[in-house]
Amino acid sequence: MDSSAGSLRGKRALVTGASRGIGRDIALYFARAGADVAIAARNEEALLELQGEIEALRRTCVVITADVTQEGAAASIVECTERGLGGLDILVNNAGGSSFSVALQSMNFSGWQKTMMLNVDSIVLLIQAALPALIRSGNASIINVSSVAGLRGAPLMSHYGAAKAALISLTQSLAIEVATQGVRVNALIPGWIETDLTDFLRTEDSVEQSVLSQVPMGRWGRSDEIAEGALFLASDASSFMTGQLLILDGGLSARP
Ligand SMILES: NC(=O)c1ccc[n+]([C@@H]2O[C@H](COP(=O)([O-])OP(=O)(O)OC[C@H]3O[C@@H](n4cnc5c(N)ncnc54)[C@H](OP(=O)(O)O)[C@@H]3O)[C@@H](O)[C@H]2O)c1
Repeated sequence: MDSSAGSLRGKRALVTGASRGIGRDIALYFARAGADVAIAARNEEALLELQGEIEALRRTCVVITADVTQEGAAASIVECTERGLGGLDILVNNAGGSSFSVALQSMNFSGWQKTMMLNVDSIVLLIQAALPALIRSGNASIINVSSVAGLRGAPLMSHYGAAKAALISLTQSLAIEVATQGVRVNALIPGWIETDLTDFLRTEDSVEQSVLSQVPMGRWGRSDEIAEGALFLASDASSFMTGQLLILDGGLSARP
């Protein structure tokens, strides 16, 4: 039997960016482990499809069609979650990414701001909106999905790297601030994962080979492998862990 079965029984989770990729798998894994789940993203059709899969597991699933960067989104996402699930124990800040790569010197400041808005600002607002419910839970977990790009320099992706580095620092600071209030806060750090976000790196063999040559395990990670990490951080298996980074990158960050 799957050792994670039932590990989230009775828990209520909100997963942003759940319409595809890593967030979708996290929501499914949580439901399989017994949690009721609120799923948020912009693509309603994809969310409804996932809702069908989660309800087939006999879990409650609340669909929240929202752009996390819009004013007022955080408050309404948390309100819909609490109304639909009756509370909140797990918040996964997964919605994020970047759609361009350019040297800092040529970067439009609006591109920098958009990246910060999606990968940092929206998460700050969601955490602020969700904290009262998470503290009421008494045994809560916040999981911030950062990136190996936030661990060191990210040439041509300085906007994304800086945003993900900010998220790591935010994770550590918040973890200390709420440590005695029953809320754990950790960062999940994926390496190169095969999702839509990294599609552009698979269009040419030579580009893909140069990416994979940096990864000691020599392959793309899968979103289900990241979902396993999220499940660990969400469950009581990590009950004494807060302010930490869980790095799942095929050995990439271990390289000299
Ligand atoms: N793939 C990797 O190699 C990798 C590596 C390290 C870290 N990460 C991080 O992991 C997280 C998930 O990445 P992924 O690879 O699964 O990316 P993805 O396949 O592009 O999925 C991104 C998800 O975020 C949602 N999203 C994007 N902008 C949004 C917005 N403004 N409002 C609401 N939802 C929004 C998307 O849904 P809609 O389009 O429906 O809104 C989608 O569900 C991101 O934070 C990413 O930075 C990924």
